[in-house]
Amino acid sequence: MNAVTTKIVPAAQQVTSGEKGLSYRGYYKHDLVKPDYELTSTMHGTPMGEYMRRFWQPVCLSEELKDLPKAIRILGEDLVAYRDRSGNIGVLHRYCAHRGASLEYGIIGENGIRCCYHGWAYGNDGRLLEAPCEPDDSRLKKTVCQGAYPAFERDGLVFAYMGPSEMQPPFPEFSTFTYPKDNRLVPFSNIYPCNWLQVYENIMDHMHTAVLHNRMVVSGTDDDVAKNLSLEGFGDMPVMQWEVTRDGNGIVFIAGRRLPEDKVWIRITEMIFPNFLQIGSLFCTGGRERHGTTGMTRWNVPVDDEHMIIFGYRHFNSEVDPDGLGCEEDCGVDKIDFLDGQVGDRTYEEGQRAPGDWEAIVSQGKIASHGAENPGFSDTGVYKLRKQLRDILAGKVKPYQLYDRLLTEGKSLPIYTQDTVLNIPELPTALDRKQILDLGKKVLAAMQAGDEVDADEREEFIRREMDKIDGGCQPLRPAAE
Ligand code: FES
Ligand SMILES: [Fe+2]
Repeated sequence: MNAVTTKIVPAAQQVTSGEKGLSYRGYYKHDLVKPDYELTSTMHGTPMGEYMRRFWQPVCLSEELKDLPKAIRILGEDLVAYRDRSGNIGVLHRYCAHRGASLEYGIIGENGIRCCYHGWAYGNDGRLLEAPCEPDDSRLKKTVCQGAYPAFERDGLVFAYMGPSEMQPPFPEFSTFTYPKDNRLVPFSNIYPCNWLQVYENIMDHMHTAVLHNRMVVSGTDDDVAKNLSLEGFGDMPVMQWEVTRDGNGIVFIAGRRLPEDKVWIRITEMIFPNFLQIGSLFCTGGRERHGTTGMTRWNVPVDDEHMIIFGYRHFNSEVDPDGLGCEEDCGVDKIDFLDGQVGDRTYEEGQRAPGDWEAIVSQGKIASHGAENPGFSDTGVYKLRKQLRDILAGKVKPYQLYDRLLTEGKSLPIYTQDTVLNIPELPTALDRKQILDLGKKVLAAMQAGDEVDADEREEFIRREMDKIDGGCQPLRPAAE
């Protein structure tokens, strides 16, 4: 009987080179799939977790705090949030310091919360106020406390500071929160069952808008088209560049698109590390805006290493959405008013037929594997972002001085996010591409020139800077028309 012998060769020795070696490689690719824990893990004590804990983070919406405590999980910590009967916010460790019953079953009091099990009552700062089962001379109140974090509400979001007390920073007030004067901040959350970083990175991956979202225009239903932001311009592949900002503490993409009638649309989106960003107009037609401001603020908050929540504000005002296409009622807990596929509220089949950001990002895995990627030019922003985060964690980047000074002086912070349409004659293809890159740099420089200008005068100043770029051509149509 002839025995067939199979020699077992380790995978590493079976790698061949050349074009032939690129066929049927399924078996050999498994070793590449490893989470990049340095950037993705935000648990207590990890480098990224400690960095995140130096900033105020949104932890829930105000509307989620009713008459019962709310169990929340942020940065891998089980917490409970509540509004006490005096109207103040408490964010405490969830499990009672006595013997661990969850405070989500607690009783909200006048000034704090009381555990359901043996009645220990805690103030919002975590001090033990009462222990009714203990003798009067018990010293427990002098020695025990519940873990607690400073917290407050602002325009419908609840913020907490989860870092060391002595390093608590002021809350960053961005000038776009109150500009233009009719701006209304409407809170929302979008829940993603995956790591925070792949959701954050999606913003620097701007070229996907011309593919992922444009596909919905091509193959979706009329309803998809109506809700899609790719009505005009977004479907075109942009001329892209990325710049590190804020002395290494931020990054922008600058997307330039040639439009009909000798117009060029420059869109800039800025992220400020570790997890903040603002996005420009969500309903930009790419045709008539002279200069526009923020449509959305987002914090990408880790729940734990495999879950995250985008908390943020939609900005409603006559400048960023002059046609009133946004809908305040469609913004709230796990919902947003633009573009299907921002949350996991659709059937599997609907997601397959018209995938959105949620389907694309969640399908990258619980923690997207960086080692298995094959990056190209379009990923430049994603890779620059990761490098900056690594440099920050390694201590190579100092905190942004201007922001520290503005916050200390009680001033609001500027951001470079914007959309501007310039009137610039078209050149032959290669020259036009270079011209658009140069225009993008000039628009960013105009925004940066406004850094030190008082918030009340900044927008006018920036508009004058934009006028210098194309010779002060009149807007084709005033933004508020
Ligand atoms: S476990 Fe909370 S009071 Fe006993
Ligand atoms: Fe997207």
